[in-house]
Amino acid sequence: MKAFSQNINSDQKADLSLLEPILASNKGQRGNAIAILQEAQAIFGYLPLEVLEKISEVTKEPLAKLYGVATFYTQFRMKPTGRHLIMLCQGTACHVMGADRVQQAIEDELRIENGETTEDRLFTLLTVACLGCCSLAPVMKIDGETYANLTSDSVRRILRKEADGECN
Ligand code: FES
Repeated sequence: MKAFSQNINSDQKADLSLLEPILASNKGQRGNAIAILQEAQAIFGYLPLEVLEKISEVTKEPLAKLYGVATFYTQFRMKPTGRHLIMLCQGTACHVMGADRVQQAIEDELRIENGETTEDRLFTLLTVACLGCCSLAPVMKIDGETYANLTSDSVRRILRKEADGECN
């Protein structure tokens, strides 16, 4: 997984120079907010306020609008995530197949709730709508890798394995 933290310095400030290639082609141009925010999030892992301010300054898109877009769409994150991003599907098929029990197991195992990051900053849990593989429900992705037909037990095993992998 890409280490987003490398793009955020020890003062927790984003290296805004990394935005230059994206912003160069959008100078003074409004109306491309979602694409720009997606690219910015791919760089930093989330959307720090100073990043939104820089985008607003260059594109002339009002900061309030950028903030509104970033907080409206669930794909955008306003807080830094842990090293591993767990995206648990709570779409209809997954919900029917027991995603609530899986979510409870994750929350118990990691002692966090949806949207939170563990104290050791290893995991962030986000619930999302359909991940596009409903026949495998219930499903989650960790760092983009799909885990299917989850149960409370299997999700605990997966999380422990991920955590162990960090120690090796
Ligand atoms: S509802 Fe979960 S993958 Fe579609």
